[in-house]
Amino acid sequence: MKNTSAADFSHYSVLLEETVKALNVIPDGSYCDLTLGGGGHSERIAKELTSGRLICFDADATAIEASKIRLEKYKDKITFVHSFNDKVDAALDQLGIERINGAVADLGVSSFQLDCTERGFSYMNDAKLDMRFDTTAELSAYDVVNYKSEEELKRIIYIYGEENFAPQIARNICRARADKPIETTFQLVDIIKASMPAKAKQGGHHPAKRTFQAIRIAVNGELDNLPVMLEKVIDRLASGGRFAVITFHSLEDRIVKNVFAEAAKGCTCPPSFPICVCGHREKVRIITKKPILPSETELEENPRSRSAKLRVC
Ligand SMILES: C[S@@+](CC[C@H](N)C(=O)[O-])C[C@H]1O[C@@H](n2cnc3c(N)ncnc32)[C@H](O)[C@@H]1O
Repeated sequence: MKNTSAADFSHYSVLLEETVKALNVIPDGSYCDLTLGGGGHSERIAKELTSGRLICFDADATAIEASKIRLEKYKDKITFVHSFNDKVDAALDQLGIERINGAVADLGVSSFQLDCTERGFSYMNDAKLDMRFDTTAELSAYDVVNYKSEEELKRIIYIYGEENFAPQIARNICRARADKPIETTFQLVDIIKASMPAKAKQGGHHPAKRTFQAIRIAVNGELDNLPVMLEKVIDRLASGGRFAVITFHSLEDRIVKNVFAEAAKGCTCPPSFPICVCGHREKVRIITKKPILPSETELEENPRSRSAKLRVC
């Protein structure tokens, strides 16, 4: 079993150079890292700040502790906030920061969290079902798997996991738990495997990948949180400010693309209207018409980056 101590935290920062370049950091500006993790993106931003400030959010207290060690050198420029990032506005208000010059969000789970057996994120290790970013939160993967209705489980697995075998998996979860609670990741993996025909388990991804992703998203409210956070950050951007978001699956990417597109819309009145009555004003300009993808070198160095997409506005 892997150690979970802060000193052990390691995470390969995805699309690091591309993200930092896109942020165009101003040395005396204010910046947010909405998903601190191992602090890789934060370190690069902090390095470029002189009198500027960086506000770092993470729902995971271990990530904050680990990054405090890594970022010790820059501690006078950084404020750490242990919170889900949809509270970004409240945190900025409290710090008296009205506008920010840039923000980065590198969504989802860190390598450290995945590799940390006892956090229960991974289908590769046997552990108690957990998957909480914030280990003090009430809802865990155990609760989702053991207490959600079959209909709700089917919805979660189908929508958040884009898993075609969601009905069979949800049915088999409910059958198994009627006998005794499903306690561990490997118990869940066995149920998932037994719900799929042999052909669907050959090649490609691990059979449990989509279902585990779905349950993690449900546990942490990831897709509910995301549009709220994006809109709040956009509303706080200073003129010329940059917002860079890295996603890892199509559902997240679609949300980012749509929120950016909506914020980039100007007046939507028909051209025949003499004056604007819709009141729509362009808040941002989209810089990446197409998302930036990891280079061949990055893909070789870090295969986990293969589904990453960076969008900037
Ligand atoms: C992919 S990692 C970030 C890695 C980081 N950019 C680096 O270079 O080390 C994502 C981190 O964001 C945190 N996280 C994910 N969603 C969050 C949310 N909605 N609010 C706060 N933290 C979140 C996770 O706990 C995890 O530590």
